[in-house]
Amino acid sequence: MAAKKEDIETMEKPSASKDEVVVHAKGLKKAFGEKEVLKNITFDLKRGENMVVLGKSGQGKSVTIQCIVGMLKPDGGELTVFGEDVAQMSDEELKQLRIKIGFLFQSGALYDSMTVRDNLEFPLTRVLKLKDQAEIDKRVEEVLDNVGLLDAIDKMPSDLSGGMRKRVGLARTLIVNPEIMLYDEPTTGLDPITSREISELILHMQKKYKTSSIIITHDLECARIVADRIVVMNDGEYIAEGSWKELHKADNELVRSFFNETT
Ligand SMILES: Nc1ncnc2c1ncn2[C@@H]1O[C@H](COP(=O)(O)OP(=O)(O)OP(=O)(O)O)[C@@H](O)[C@H]1O
Ligand SMILES: [Mg+2]
Repeated sequence: MAAKKEDIETMEKPSASKDEVVVHAKGLKKAFGEKEVLKNITFDLKRGENMVVLGKSGQGKSVTIQCIVGMLKPDGGELTVFGEDVAQMSDEELKQLRIKIGFLFQSGALYDSMTVRDNLEFPLTRVLKLKDQAEIDKRVEEVLDNVGLLDAIDKMPSDLSGGMRKRVGLARTLIVNPEIMLYDEPTTGLDPITSREISELILHMQKKYKTSSIIITHDLECARIVADRIVVMNDGEYIAEGSWKELHKADNELVRSFFNETT
């Protein structure tokens, strides 16, 4: 069942220029004790853009997105989301911000004792405080249809495969129609075919809802499918930036090694 035109219209984001910056980081720093994890992170995420972050394990990729949602406070540099300084936000402002930012965690946890339908209703009733059951049903069905899992609506998470659970996790994040999506390793642990399906879904959601996304991944095929732009992170900084094609033949050996290791 395709979404009706009026449904899509009600979900459209505020009109904005294509070059509007939704997340801005400049010289971002974060250390844990002696360990400087983020040394100098600088980027702008534009509205409607998919930015992929590649980097070895333990480089601070997850730390960066935890700073964006205010779960961690940077030690220095600039970090604004929708033009507002995240570090200065009150708890209430952070709560409001997190409604606009969908965060697909590395583990993508679902509530195991609830059906798929109940898992999806949860953010609508608890976060958006919706009361109209007909509207809730409509949104649950539409988002499940978008991730190709309408048939699984009354199943328990334990009855689903890993790939299906990832899709439900994604649906649960998307159901509140976030303006920014942060994907932390969305395809890790999935077989190549399911990984590809999830990557295509990320692309589909970007095109359909004009979402701005940061996608952290080790999966080059995922990067190739979803990225408008790729940044490579190493030793607390972004050392290269470009399209998949550009970085694939980059002069920098470390950057090239990323692509050669897995291709
Ligand atoms: N809350 C925290 N307290 C202390 N150290 C932390 C904390 N969060 C992250 N770190 C440390 O920061 C470093 C970067 O962690 P991060 O999880 O961002 O890496 P990553 O690039 O996402 O790696 P992976 O690809 O394995 O997910 C690691 O050394 C980690 O131990
Ligand atoms: Mg991580």
